[in-house]
Amino acid sequence: MTTTALNRPAMNVRNLTAPQISTLKALLFLLCLMPAGLLVKGFFDDALGANPIEAITHATGEWTLRFLLITLAVTPLRKLTHWHWLIRLRRMLGLFTFFYALLHFLTYVVLDQFFDGAAIVLDVLKRPYITVGFSAFVLLIPLAVTSTNAMVRRLGGRRWQALHRSVYGIAILGVMHYWWLVKSDLTQPILYGLVLAALLGFRVWWRNEERKAQLAGKFAMEGPPGVKINQRIIPIKSQTP
Ligand code: HEM
Repeated sequence: MTTTALNRPAMNVRNLTAPQISTLKALLFLLCLMPAGLLVKGFFDDALGANPIEAITHATGEWTLRFLLITLAVTPLRKLTHWHWLIRLRRMLGLFTFFYALLHFLTYVVLDQFFDGAAIVLDVLKRPYITVGFSAFVLLIPLAVTSTNAMVRRLGGRRWQALHRSVYGIAILGVMHYWWLVKSDLTQPILYGLVLAALLGFRVWWRNEERKAQLAGKFAMEGPPGVKINQRIIPIKSQTP
């Protein structure tokens, strides 16, 4: 081993440096582009099977749902591992969710329906799985538009957070869309549904834990719950004998 290698501090996964995060972001960006790149390559190589439009619709739909769930997994993962830099990757993952949703939607509008507005409107109104998918896509638009720092500042933290909480509803619509369109084997939508349920469950559990910790902190400062008379705490008698 060289002396420079020995002198270099070991990488601390919990606290990555700014250049390390930038490198990671660049690598992640390329990785996230890969499914789209492979589809484009498959298209030009004529390697997407007998029905390339169906293959593109399915791949872009699946990647939209995967990116949606990966984006939702960032916060639980950050809380469990204390790798706080993970939050710096969340916006990119969210935008890739929108990118794949847009590709999915455009495949439907351009390649499947050939810009036939009337047929599209009829489809959205008449076929429940299209109605649900379309709603999910429309709801993703404000999240993508407000993803910049300037928009966070303009909306204010609380309003921005309230808006972006709708991503859980969007994910539910995404799973419903998949569930509805599958004709026989429900394994895939069930798996996506279970992952989403686990992520939602974690969120509820974590919020409960935080609330309990907050209450414990409050009692530590103020003393136990009871009736305060002249600043003395008269304990409330237990109901049990
Ligand atoms: C967030 C939004 C959306 C998500 C997460 C999503 C997800 C999916 C998934 C996972 C599939 C199945 C892929 C497979 O079979 O492997 C799919 C298929 C499909 N989606 Fe979406 N989708 C969304 C929005 C839309 C929209 C806006 C439209 C059209 C208006 C649409 C139309 C379709 C169609 C036509 C199929 C193929 C159905 C078939 O196989 O018969 N989706 N989508």
